[in-house]
Amino acid sequence: MKKGFVQNGNYARFLQAVKATEQRGSMESGLILVSGEPGLGKSKAVDRWAADNHALYFRAVENMGHDFFLRSLCAVAGINLLPHQDEHGNKVRAPRNKNETQKRLTEHVIRKQCPIVIDEAQKLMGHDARLLEVMRDISDSAEIIVVLVAGVANFGSQIKAYPQISRRIFMEVPFEHWKLQDVKLVCKQLLEITAEDALLERITIESKGLMRLVMNGLSTLERIAKANGVQHACMADFEGQELITDWDGEEPRKRRSK
Ligand SMILES: Nc1ncnc2c1ncn2[C@@H]1O[C@H](COP(=O)(O)OP(=O)(O)O)[C@@H](O)[C@H]1O
Ligand SMILES: [Mg+2]
Repeated sequence: MKKGFVQNGNYARFLQAVKATEQRGSMESGLILVSGEPGLGKSKAVDRWAADNHALYFRAVENMGHDFFLRSLCAVAGINLLPHQDEHGNKVRAPRNKNETQKRLTEHVIRKQCPIVIDEAQKLMGHDARLLEVMRDISDSAEIIVVLVAGVANFGSQIKAYPQISRRIFMEVPFEHWKLQDVKLVCKQLLEITAEDALLERITIESKGLMRLVMNGLSTLERIAKANGVQHACMADFEGQELITDWDGEEPRKRRSK
């Protein structure tokens, strides 16, 4: 299976949301929420967008302290927090506290006008969502887009408990389950074999439209087809053959029998 990014409907809707947010009237509402259950391709999509748009991409981890979070963002932005001389030979000292660190980061973002993507944003929720407040603050001051990517399905409702943040969300992009036409696109772009539509439909159903499982099913399909010298995989050849193994969840056969 080849590596690559498949631009499906979810990505197209994300791009539309970014465009609408760029054209927003109130420069304060610069947050975009990308939501949906794990496995739909949210991280892959925003990672691709961040790379194309010189955005800062940060994947949050559990139990980050305020200072650690700011310093991590500065590291991603390439901001030197050690004492040094700037390009004009002026001495720049290390920030003395987190307010100064945040100021450095905000100044950098204002200068570069770079958007920020926070993946696994639910991990910023602890301590009264103080770290989400940081992102809101930077977005307000720099008037840049901040994309918050939910790593869990119910993040949208959790964030409503913090109206000062949820009010700043200009758009939500709920990622949808991959449909047959998307799976056909993945097959066309990433496989070195072709497959009958009925077989791709089977993979769409058994994967429940989760891209994580679509990839799993298609790579099994390709491996078996190649091992048998088959260039065009047909439904009949894979009768009774397990295609998707979901190590993270329930076994597909069990799910099917429910
Ligand atoms: N648009 C895409 N093109 C190619 N591969 C993708 C795409 N979207 C997701 N994937 C693959 O599917 C798997 C799950 O995607 P991921 O972005 O981690 O989902 P999520 O963040 O929603 O849990 C990953 O292996 C990823 O590489
Ligand atoms: Mg993810």
